[in-house]
Amino acid sequence: MKGFILGVIFTIVVIVAVGLFVLETGRVNMRADVPPSSLETSVAGHAMNASVARHAPSVANPVQPTEQNLVDGAEIYSFKCAQCHGDPAHTKSLLAETLNPPPPQFFGDDRPDVPENHNYYITLHGIRLTGMPGWKNALTNEQIWKVVTFLSHLDNLPPKAKSVFGLTGGAPAVAPAAPPKKPMKPMPKM
Ligand code: HEC
Repeated sequence: MKGFILGVIFTIVVIVAVGLFVLETGRVNMRADVPPSSLETSVAGHAMNASVARHAPSVANPVQPTEQNLVDGAEIYSFKCAQCHGDPAHTKSLLAETLNPPPPQFFGDDRPDVPENHNYYITLHGIRLTGMPGWKNALTNEQIWKVVTFLSHLDNLPPKAKSVFGLTGGAPAVAPAAPPKKPMKPMPKM
């Protein structure tokens, strides 16, 4: 029995030592432009969903989806969220391919169609070790609910809310003419 316990303790010490060695010698890749392993993606994804389901408060949205509230939500979204999550005029955002895990493209094929209290909780607190910020110190509670209301109505936005993104009544966006490009010296690869 004593031998067995010593064996268990030895095994634990070896596992901790190997783990520390891997971490301390810089063998864990911390780059944002390299996708995490499928194991990490799957474990973190499940942990995330379970955590939101457990902690999101069971509260009803206090904001009504009136035209004005959807316009306000669209404005907040366009300034704070669109560069990562896209908008009706840019279904693939500027930062779509710059983060791992990548920001879901809400106007592409990744609608934020979870219950509103989940979107509220995620927007309020953010998602650890991803690019998703917690907005509770940057937006008021009312602004967060307005942007959550906007997220629940992406498929039936009134024309005034669409016009926040330069769209009129859902007509396809006309991209502004790009400024002439100066040829750039190629950058050395890092
Ligand atoms: C700097 C980039 C960035 C900004 C700005 C940003 N997000 Fe995110 N967001 C992310 C990333 C990355 C994820 C995915 C994290 C993951 O996979 O767990 C995410 C996830 C989410 C999710 C969960 C979606 C899902 O399907 O699981 C919601 C909801 C969300 N963001 C809302 C917002 C709102 C609202 C704003 C603006 C107030 C915002 N985000 C601004 C990067 C960003």
